Amino acid sequence: MDNLPDNLLSPDTLDGDQLVELTLRPQALTDYVGQTKVKDNLAILIEAAKGRSESLEHILLYGAPGLGKTTLAHIIANEMNGRLRVTSGPAIEKAGDLAAILTNLADGDLLFIDEIHRLPKTVEEILYPAMEDQVLDLIIGKGPSAKTLRLNLAKFTIIGATTKVSLLSSPLRDRFGMVYHLDFYEAPELQDIVNRSARILQLELDGEPAGEIAMRSRRTPRIANRLLRRVRDYCQVKHKGLISLDSCRQALDLLEIDQLGLDNIDRQILSIIIDKFNGGPVGLATIAAATGEDVATVEEVYEPFLLRLGLLDRSPRGRVATPAAYEHLGKTKLV
Ligand SMILES: Nc1ncnc2c1ncn2[C@@H]1O[C@H](COP(=O)(O)OP(=O)(O)OP(=O)(O)O)[C@@H](O)[C@H]1O
Ligand SMILES: [Mg+2]
Repeated sequence: MDNLPDNLLSPDTLDGDQLVELTLRPQALTDYVGQTKVKDNLAILIEAAKGRSESLEHILLYGAPGLGKTTLAHIIANEMNGRLRVTSGPAIEKAGDLAAILTNLADGDLLFIDEIHRLPKTVEEILYPAMEDQVLDLIIGKGPSAKTLRLNLAKFTIIGATTKVSLLSSPLRDRFGMVYHLDFYEAPELQDIVNRSARILQLELDGEPAGEIAMRSRRTPRIANRLLRRVRDYCQVKHKGLISLDSCRQALDLLEIDQLGLDNIDRQILSIIIDKFNGGPVGLATIAAATGEDVATVEEVYEPFLLRLGLLDRSPRGRVATPAAYEHLGKTKLV
C-alpha cells in the first residue's frame, strides 16, 4: 500500500521495522506461531514432496499486511532445503525480466513473488506455461517471420503472496496447486509471539505485559513486535529496563493506544460520528475531512479495523457508530 501514514499501528512495514523483522522472523515451521491449519497442511505437503524427491506444487499465500506471508515463504524454502529467490509483482516490468529470472532457476529452487497481484498482464502470460508445463515460450522476431522458441525450465516452485487476492486473475489463481489464507491472530498466539521476540531481544518479560501488548496489537504480529520495541524503549529510559505490567501500560498509554488497540485517529473518527452527527449515518468524505486524513486512508487503514471490532457499521447512507462504540468511548446516545 502506498501513501499511507507512518503511524505506529500501521500493519505495513515502517522504517526501522526491516532489520528487526529479520532477527525476529521464525526460521522453521515449528517456530511459526498460530495458523495451525495452514501449518498442518504445509507440513504434509512438504514431507510428501521430500519423500518423492520432487519440488513442491506452486503455493499462493494471501492475507492482510503483517500476518506472516513473507515469513512463511522463507520457512517453506528452509524446510524444503531449497534456495529462495525473491522478487515482486511491481519489480517485474517486462516479460523479458521474468524470462531472465525463470531461466536462472535451478531444480528445487523456489521463487517468491510478493504482491503478485501487481504483475503486469504481459508478464503474467509468460508465467502460465512456466507454471503449468515448466516451459518458456519466447517469440523471436516480428511480423510474419516471427517464430516461437520453446525452452525447458528447471523444476521450481512459485510462492506467490498477496494482500488482495480478489485482484488476481482467475487463470493465474488456478495455476496454484495450494492456496492458503492467513487469518488475524488470537490474543494467546500474539502473546506467544511477543514472548518469543522478547527472548530473542533478551528482554525480561513476564506473562502480563506480553498479554497487554498482545491485546493492543490489532491481531497482527508485525504490530505486536513493533509495540514490544516501543515498550522496551520506554522502560529502558523510565524504569531501568524493568518491564512490568504497570510500566508497559504507561508506555502504551503514552503512545495513546487503548485497550482495543485503537489510536487517536480511530477514536477521533468514532467521536466525530457520535458527537457531530448523533451516531450517523455520515459519508466517508465528511469523516475524512473532519479528521484531516484522506479518504483512501480512512477507507483502507482505519475503517476495516473499526468494522472488524464492530464499532462501526456501513449503511447505504454512510457510516454508523454502533452501541459498542458508544460504550468504548463512554458516551450515551441522544434520542
Ligand atoms: N506466525 C508468526 N509467528 C511469529 N512471528 C511472526 C508470525 N507471522 C509474522 N511474524 C512476525 O511479523 C513480522 C511480519 O511478518 P511478514 O513480513 O511475514 O508479514 P507479511 O504478511 O509478509 O506482510 P506484508 O503483506 O506487509 O508483506 C515478521 O518479521 C515476523 O517477525
Ligand atoms: Mg511480506
